[in-house]
Amino acid sequence: MCLSMLSPQMQIICCIQTLLLLGAQLALSIPNNFFYHDFRKGNGKKEIHFSGVKLHVDSPQPSVFAVTGDNVTLPCRFWYEPELSSPREPRVKWSWQPAGGGHETDVLVAIGSRSRSFWDFRGRVQIRQDFPGDAALVMTNLMLNDTGRYHCEVVDGLEDESISVYLDLRGVVFPYQHPRGHYHLSFMGAQQACEEQASTLATFSQLFQSWKEGLNWCNAGWLADETVQYPMTRPRVPCGGDSLAPGVRSYGRRHLHLHRYDVFCFSSTLQGKVYYLQPSHSMNLTEAQQTCQEDGAEVAKVGQLYAAWKLTGLDRCDAGWLADGSVRYPITRPRRNCGPSEPGVRSFGFPPPQHKHGVYCYKSGDE
Ligand SMILES: *[C@@H]1O[C@H](CO)[C@@H](O)[C@H](O)[C@H]1NC(C)=O
Ligand SMILES: *[C@@H]1O[C@H](CO)[C@@H](O)[C@H](O)[C@H]1NC(C)=O
Ligand SMILES: *[C@@H]1O[C@H](CO)[C@@H](O)[C@H](O)[C@H]1NC(C)=O
Repeated sequence: MCLSMLSPQMQIICCIQTLLLLGAQLALSIPNNFFYHDFRKGNGKKEIHFSGVKLHVDSPQPSVFAVTGDNVTLPCRFWYEPELSSPREPRVKWSWQPAGGGHETDVLVAIGSRSRSFWDFRGRVQIRQDFPGDAALVMTNLMLNDTGRYHCEVVDGLEDESISVYLDLRGVVFPYQHPRGHYHLSFMGAQQACEEQASTLATFSQLFQSWKEGLNWCNAGWLADETVQYPMTRPRVPCGGDSLAPGVRSYGRRHLHLHRYDVFCFSSTLQGKVYYLQPSHSMNLTEAQQTCQEDGAEVAKVGQLYAAWKLTGLDRCDAGWLADGSVRYPITRPRRNCGPSEPGVRSFGFPPPQHKHGVYCYKSGDE
């Protein structure tokens, strides 16, 4: 407000106006008897004084891990200090910012026992209210795309306090290439490819975690934040040179339509069961589809095979068809004649559909 290019006299006038404005704000607050002060603490907790009473909000658990299909509780509680003689019903609002960025959207708003939920969260969320000040969000039937930062905001009059709880899924990151070949996917195509294989675009933190667990992949793939990266644990010449340190290498953000890469997908859950079937004879792709159908199942998707491998330890040294027309097999206990010495899902790529193999079927889960 007090611009230095103004003359000294003008600056003084300007500054007096600022003081008057501040005075007016102060005067406004006095009739309501509010003393307003924001203490920011290093640990992310915030406190506000009003009428000598402080509203506190915190969460005993700043991040929550789950698998899809779970019911989860995102903890959040509020209290007043000193304790109030009569109970108050502040407004509690939960909002969500998807993993990988994007707009924050409302999840639920509640006052006392009344609440309203929004969007895909409708009917799946409620406030727990197990004790006074319990504002934990209970979410049922967790979906792959529910991950991200959840914001618990408590509003009481002029007081407005909030904390964040991160929701992440236990699962597995896998590199995926389009059936038509290497580096074939735009960002939208990558998103679709993951969805078709019962998975979602991996986030950077999921890829980073997988890299720490040993994921070594030489082809660059899209991530949820629209960047293109690849994880290297053993640098070598065809993968950017052997002089570079191991790490997750990034090409940065790429053009969403023009640039084409592979993709890193993320799969969680198993609400169903993945199993190998091989009748007396091997099957081409059409016969494999029929065989699973006749068994009351469908051909497993790549994300389902990876989840079964990682989360339930599926181990089978037999190559089988999958829904995308690829042929793979899952190994948790590496042994001779079953591929490399590390556990993994081995792939034979996309053979011609008339080739003969077994099949991995998926039966969805309540039985
Ligand atoms: C989640 O909660 C719903 C109802 O609250 C219940 O029917 C369902 O069995 C629960 N699911 C799990 C996986 O606990
Ligand atoms: C999340 O995925 C489900 C199906 O898997 C879909 O119906 C829903 O619209 C998705 N939600 C968002 C916010 O993308
Ligand atoms: C698979 O074999 C059946 C005959 O058993 C044949 O009718 C079908 O065309 C074959 N499909 C493919 C993709 O080769």
